[in-house]
Amino acid sequence: MAYLDTLGRPLRNLRISVTDRCNLRCQYCMPEEEYVWLPREDLLHFEEISQLADVFVELGVDKVRLTGGEPLLRRDLPRLVRLLAAKPGIRDLAMTTNGVLLSEQAQALYEAGLHRVTVSLDTLRPERFKQLTRRDTHARVLEGIEAVGRAGFKGLKLDSVVMRGTNDDELVDLIEYGKRVGAEVRFIEYMDVGGATLWSLDAVLSRTAILERLERHYGPIEPVVEESTAPADRFALSDGILFGIISSTTAPFCRSCDRSRLTADGMWYLCLYAKQGTDLRGPFRRGASKEELKSLIIPTWQQRAERGAEQRLAMANRAPLVQIGELKKDPHLEMHTRGG
Ligand code: GTP
Ligand code: 5AD
Ligand code: SF4
Repeated sequence: MAYLDTLGRPLRNLRISVTDRCNLRCQYCMPEEEYVWLPREDLLHFEEISQLADVFVELGVDKVRLTGGEPLLRRDLPRLVRLLAAKPGIRDLAMTTNGVLLSEQAQALYEAGLHRVTVSLDTLRPERFKQLTRRDTHARVLEGIEAVGRAGFKGLKLDSVVMRGTNDDELVDLIEYGKRVGAEVRFIEYMDVGGATLWSLDAVLSRTAILERLERHYGPIEPVVEESTAPADRFALSDGILFGIISSTTAPFCRSCDRSRLTADGMWYLCLYAKQGTDLRGPFRRGASKEELKSLIIPTWQQRAERGAEQRLAMANRAPLVQIGELKKDPHLEMHTRGG
């Protein structure tokens, strides 16, 4: 039985954030140095995450992605992977990471049963990486990326948030790098999500502009025709190399969005842009049964009408979603808590 929301979208894809902490300070996500972190005692233990995942799987979730903050900062993450990988209902178990700690952990994650890895990589230039992230760990990210294939993973993706005037001169270099390491590169439009307090429309390089620039270098680019709920539209270069564009800002895909998000402290969000979420930790820790949790989750999903990115697109004067003061009062509004 598939549970559908008000727009007919099924509950299928769960992004589980395992920590709100991060070891980088990417300009588009965490431009501050200091943040208000979630209280440690509120963080779900691995067994708690696993039990909540069981409830979601019984309701139709079959794709799970581990996110953060930076998920590899959570100690012994392979143990959680093992718990999740043992669930036959989860057909796709992936992780999004910034790659800094990946070279040490790739093998253990593969052996624990993780299916796929996506690494964020916005630049190939160490100096630029330092400016963009305020940390000097670019070489470790590249080592991490190389470790993925060596560990045995297939289907590596590299996510690049494109910002005009920052890294928009590296589109071709990133695609060429992707070819060398056997990864599919995906360009992400800079989004005005919570945490992106430096966002402005001027800094967005649209999907159209991304394609134009790539065509100037590579010649005609063909869209790949496929039915999917993935946020990326895929394209093929004339040599057959595929890449993706995630155009959340100028051409949102809310109509097919089957994603929801569980934060590290057990809040459940129905949209990246949602201001309110549903507390699952409270009921869970008070001893709610599986059936009681389901009776909380099902009607919440059935009433879901969220299409945050489409609503943002319709706004006249688009500015950052949340101001810094509000973010400090409620860290749940941050993208790094919500799970990018
Ligand atoms: P697969 O397609 O399954 O490989 O994963 P994915 O693309 O859903 O996951 P990934 O973490 O790689 O997402 C890439 C980026 O797309 C995110 O970091 C966000 O910038 C953006 N994104 C992911 N989910 C959503 C969403 O629900 N809404 C919007 N507007 N953007 C999203
Ligand atoms: N715009 C687009 N993507 C973002 N992410 C975080 N902040 C933003 C933003 N403002 C996503 C990126 C990054 C991942 C960790 O989170 O995809 O790779
Ligand atoms: Fe889904 Fe909200 Fe993103 Fe639209 S903005 S795709 S509804 S998470």
